[in-house]
Amino acid sequence: MRVLSGIQPSGRLHIGNFFGAMRQHLELQKEHDGFYFIADYHALTSNPSAEDIASRTLDVAMDYLALGLDPEKTVFWRQSDVPEVTELCWLLSCITPMGLLQRCTSYKDKVAQGMSANHGLFAYPVLQAADILIFDSELVPVGADQKQHIEVTRDIAQRFNNSYGEILVLPKEHIIDSVAVVVGIDGRKMSKSYDNTIELFESEKSVKKKIMRIVTDSTPVEEPKNPSRCSIFALLKLFCDKDEIADWQRRYLEGGMGYGEAKKALVGKVIEYFGPYRAKRAELQEDTDYVRKVLADGAERARAVAAKTLSKVRYAVGLGR
Ligand code: ADP
Ligand code: TRP
Repeated sequence: MRVLSGIQPSGRLHIGNFFGAMRQHLELQKEHDGFYFIADYHALTSNPSAEDIASRTLDVAMDYLALGLDPEKTVFWRQSDVPEVTELCWLLSCITPMGLLQRCTSYKDKVAQGMSANHGLFAYPVLQAADILIFDSELVPVGADQKQHIEVTRDIAQRFNNSYGEILVLPKEHIIDSVAVVVGIDGRKMSKSYDNTIELFESEKSVKKKIMRIVTDSTPVEEPKNPSRCSIFALLKLFCDKDEIADWQRRYLEGGMGYGEAKKALVGKVIEYFGPYRAKRAELQEDTDYVRKVLADGAERARAVAAKTLSKVRYAVGLGR
């Protein structure tokens, strides 16, 4: 089955991205025909500087490769190296009703958060539909925040097929819900836009500093504490097995344990979990030519698939005949 997903290079990847998306991508590549890309066209909707978009794209590539993305098996590329998607995006735009996009919540949310209301941001779901449909993707693993975009993709594909024949494959969404939302060090959703992340490969010193700074309530050491209202416990749970979770839960509820102890344990867990990938990440950092080559090879493989779909679509709508 063809599994496709994209991740925006909008900043350094963090443990929310890992548990909410990357881990499942890496797992799914083993059994399926994985197609993963770095959505740099999409990232332009927030108008980053040229230097930022370029360096973040490479960072995302290195993070994925360090964590085990297998570029032999999985097709891994930079979205903008397959410009066919922008043409398909236009062709799909012409059959996409305004109302469908006006109903999309992510545009409204992003504008409410202060992003400029540019046309790219509004048309973002159509480009995402083109990403998915151009590769005949069957399964699209995404976080719950992306569910609406997959529904829009299916709607657009159905409209296209109704008008021009059964050309586009309707994808199934695959909502990654094994981890609901990873909390950040300020208790809100961990997000690059909130400056509350623990990055996957930041220095051990910095991981420690951030975790030790997590704000807790002022329950004294000896008193019982509520694990379900504690960010440290929520983060610890990501790294612990069932027995360890039960043990921490008991210690919170019993009292006699200070938050400092839980914080120290969390620092240890984060460092231990990502530690084995650090050497590989550092090696890639020293060999960006290799990373660029992986992306170029991926783009070539992706383009071959994209060109086929695009040519069918162009013919169907009456272009180039
Ligand atoms: P950010 O909010 O940091 O900009 P993105 O919106 O680029 O992250 O998310 C990329 C992927 O990571 C999406 O699939 C999203 O669902 C997942 N993700 C991001 N933050 C979290 C989080 N805090 N918890 C769980 N999943 C997350
Ligand atoms: N919009 C997605 C996000 O912000 C990224 C993305 C772009 C994507 N194109 C895609 C995800 C196609 C899945 C399939 O997370």
